[in-house]
Amino acid sequence: MSTLTQSPAWLALQTHQSVMSQIHLSDLFQQDNQRFNKYSLLFNDVLLDYSKQPVNDETIGLLLKLSQQQDLENWIKQLFQGEKINNTEHRAALHCALRGQDSLIIDGKDVAPEIESVLSQMTQFTESVRNGSLTGYSGKPFSDIINIGIGGSDLGPLMVTEALKPYCTANLTMHFVSNIDGAHLSETLKKVNPETTLFIIASKTFTSQETITNANSAKAWFLSSGGTEDTIADHFVAVSTNTEAVKKFGIPTKNLFLFWDWVGGRYSLWSAIGLPIALAIGMDNFNAFLTGAREMDQHFSTAPHEQNLPVILGMIGIWQINFFGATAHTILPYDQSLHSFPAYLQQLEMESNGKSVTRSGEMIDYSTSPVIYGEPGTNGQHAFYQLLHQGTQTISADFLAACQSHHPIGDHHNWLLANFFAQTEAMMTGKGENNKQTNKLDTFATAEAEQSALPPHKIVPGNKATTSILFKKLDPKTLGTLIALYEHKVFVQSVIWDINPFDQWGVELGKQLAGEIARELEHDALVTSHDSSTNGLINYFKTNR
Ligand code: F6P
Repeated sequence: MSTLTQSPAWLALQTHQSVMSQIHLSDLFQQDNQRFNKYSLLFNDVLLDYSKQPVNDETIGLLLKLSQQQDLENWIKQLFQGEKINNTEHRAALHCALRGQDSLIIDGKDVAPEIESVLSQMTQFTESVRNGSLTGYSGKPFSDIINIGIGGSDLGPLMVTEALKPYCTANLTMHFVSNIDGAHLSETLKKVNPETTLFIIASKTFTSQETITNANSAKAWFLSSGGTEDTIADHFVAVSTNTEAVKKFGIPTKNLFLFWDWVGGRYSLWSAIGLPIALAIGMDNFNAFLTGAREMDQHFSTAPHEQNLPVILGMIGIWQINFFGATAHTILPYDQSLHSFPAYLQQLEMESNGKSVTRSGEMIDYSTSPVIYGEPGTNGQHAFYQLLHQGTQTISADFLAACQSHHPIGDHHNWLLANFFAQTEAMMTGKGENNKQTNKLDTFATAEAEQSALPPHKIVPGNKATTSILFKKLDPKTLGTLIALYEHKVFVQSVIWDINPFDQWGVELGKQLAGEIARELEHDALVTSHDSSTNGLINYFKTNR
């Protein structure tokens, strides 16, 4: 048994859960008509409603005792002071510094001027691309930008560029190529003209196989369709920490946008990795995006924890995962422009907190990151909500929506939001008047069927916890705030679980094995060096390719 699960705060929450799990969520609302006022928080334009969670004052008190016991306040300080809290890689995790901090000394050096200098390089570059003064080799302005990257060098910029389309004012079409499957690059190249296409090769390490393979093929395509070695510099820029590898690839250093090893891949969209975002929405909007995140940083580092959005969101997650047994968490943006938000959060949450050893290397005996998945509403309603309403798994959910639409046609937005509110209400109340005492469908269904003569398959037990996040409008600043909210929520949970959220050693093994197998695929001889399944699959591929 770990010290965490034997600690007083943890044990007190376990005892409290056995009481709270017996109370149906609808009853909590009947007992207290002030629940919404009590259990919702407003920061800037962002409203966080957690009143449809199985909490009361005692729950919040106990959750905050747990966060105190785990020294959350001190960890937050260490994060913002640039301490080397990424202990397995001996680095600070300084993504917050990218959103504007007057000065920050790392290893005896103030990093603020370097951040400022890359930002001004980005300003100059984006302005000249957007106003057409920087052109391709034939003198025509750029029409298409292709970002080649993967993981954090793709998901963040892709998600934000999609989400902020109404702010994409320049005459530029953005493309994102990540998959090493040749289809991704080929299909993209079919749509563009080499004379007016700008490639951004985005890779923190400049060693990711997918990115380097796609970048080499993009360069070969450029050279075979009118470009020359001399004009590569007009059409290729790089964003990386690896100056040497960028040079070796053939991109001159003047076309390199630097960032630093203290920016984790999945936290890098605030750095020059955000170049596609800045090209799409312009630097003023990009700065507003940074401001939104900075304001959330200030809130996170100063607000009392009971009024602190990331702390509350994080601790509600702990309550669901570690005490109610939620194994999955679903992200449901009622906003088509946030269609990539669940995929972005998959990396942020699962790559950060999908761990099973503590900071000091001990095995963990409690759950850490749940499976994150999601789809925009209302599409998800017609796909997987059935399981949320009547399935046997415990799954928690975040619903998100904007009050104002960028596309106010007819009554679409009212209908969209009507579905949001209806779903969270239905998940809480279920169908029938006596949905009490249990969230187990079979037990409840039998009791309900006896009382109401409803056949069991028609009974919806309700008592499904949801959190709602409403904001005024999805503008650059609000999106910055929202992303920082989730980043800090992930940090809060990592502190409770005593894990390092800033490394990702688990993904290394697969990369290493892929390299070895790729060499075996270079010839047709059958292989025998693996287990029988892997040998069988490789050999079937070799005989059928
Ligand atoms: O998948 C592992 C990972 O290292 C991510 O953490 C990272 O965002 C991604 O690969 C891409 O890495 P890079 O930017 O170095 O190409």
